[in-house]
Amino acid sequence: MKRARIAAAVLAGVLAALWGATPSAAAKEQDMKQLMAENFAGLQTILVALINSNYAAVPDQVKIIQDHATQLTHKVPPQIAPADRERFLSYAYNLRGNAADLGAIVQLLIEHDKGKELLAADELRAAAASHYGGMVTMCVTCHNQFRPTAVR
Ligand code: HEC
Repeated sequence: MKRARIAAAVLAGVLAALWGATPSAAAKEQDMKQLMAENFAGLQTILVALINSNYAAVPDQVKIIQDHATQLTHKVPPQIAPADRERFLSYAYNLRGNAADLGAIVQLLIEHDKGKELLAADELRAAAASHYGGMVTMCVTCHNQFRPTAVR
C-alpha cells in the first residue's frame, strides 16, 4: 500500500536524521548497536501495521522493543554521570511501558478483528498509535540527552 510505504519512508528519514546519518559512529558498542538497530526496524514494521490496521506482525516487534528497554535498564552506558542515571532509567522504563500498553491493545484488536471480541475498536486503534508515539518520543528524548555525540 503506497501510503504505508511513504509513511515508513518518512519515519526512516526522520530517525536517520535524528541519528545524524552515520550509524557506524558508535561501532564500539556492538551490543547496544544491535539492540538499537532492532528497535529501529521494529518501529517501521509497527508503523506500517498500525496504518493498515493489520496487526499480525506487531506482537513480536513490540516484544523485542520491550525486552531491549529492559536491557537498557540493566546496562546504563558508563559515560552517563551518576546524577543522570535516574533520568536515563526513566526513559527506558517509559519506553517499555508504552511498548507493553501497545502490545496489550494490539492483542485486543487482533481478537476483535477475528470477530471474537466486541470493542470500541476505532478508539483503540488510535490509542495504539498514541503509544507508538510515546515510544518514538522516548527514543528521541533519550538520544537527545544521552547518546555520545549530541546534535548541534
Ligand atoms: C534510555 C535511553 C535510550 C532509549 C529510550 C533509546 N535509545 Fe537508542 N541509543 C541509546 C544510546 C545510549 C545509544 C548509543 C550507544 C553507543 O553508541 O554507545 C543509542 C543508539 C541507537 C542507535 C544507533 C545504533 C548504531 O547503529 O550505532 C539507534 C538506531 C537507536 N539507538 C535507535 C533507537 C530507537 C528506534 C529507540 C526507540 C524505540 C531507541 N533507540 C531508544 C539510548 C537509548
